[in-house]
Amino acid sequence: MTLHRKTADGVQQGLFITFEGGEGAGKSTQITRLAEHLRAAGDDVLVTREPGGSPGAEAVRHVILSGAAESFGPAMEALLFGAARNDHVEQVMRQAVNTGTMVLCDRYIDSSRVYQGVTGDLDPGLMRAIERAAINGLMPDMTIILDLPAETGLQRANARRGAETADRFEKETIETHRKRRDAYLAIAAAEPRRCKVVSADRSVEDIAADIANLVDQLKASRAIKMKSKTGAAK
Ligand code: TYD
Repeated sequence: MTLHRKTADGVQQGLFITFEGGEGAGKSTQITRLAEHLRAAGDDVLVTREPGGSPGAEAVRHVILSGAAESFGPAMEALLFGAARNDHVEQVMRQAVNTGTMVLCDRYIDSSRVYQGVTGDLDPGLMRAIERAAINGLMPDMTIILDLPAETGLQRANARRGAETADRFEKETIETHRKRRDAYLAIAAAEPRRCKVVSADRSVEDIAADIANLVDQLKASRAIKMKSKTGAAK
């Protein structure tokens, strides 16, 4: 049985699931695992990432991650992340979710809240305005926060890329990484329905099993809700 949700007008509705966490938390491995799990259950799955995921956003990604925007300051950078996000939402993700696809996105609003808002020290009012304009209501149905001590994450990230080639966000201090971890946990505490903290300091299999359970529960609860709304017994 597939658990595609149908709205009253018969349009299938997918789920929008985002993955968050510091460097080396294993997001991409876990996204791949969840995509396999969902496809095996018969779901259509789109795996995407930020910054990027649409041609316009990929162009902005290059500007941001190359460091070219750094000298223009954190507000400019936050607006660029927002611009990239808006293009990704409007060109790719909203339509996919609205037509029944399970959209799995590597980083989304919480990365901006944490990296630009907390460790970039930007004005909370500006950050909220950018977020609202960027996503225009497309909130994740679930956000998986892969949680890891800052030291472990940095070690893993450096081993993967080589300390010399770490990109500009990975070159920051251990204090910055600790602040980001705390900021993610604070978001999860403030929005417990959306955000699920999963300990990433375990085997790939154990982490993947926990995430699959969380998503399966969400699918089941949505299916029940749709049934009671439409009165359809399926
Ligand atoms: P990427 O190479 O995709 O890294 P990762 O594997 O860690 O996701 O680089 C994305 C970097 O951009 C990452 O360090 C986090 C940062 N970032 C922000 O600062 N704000 C944002 O809104 C997003 C989406 C990413």
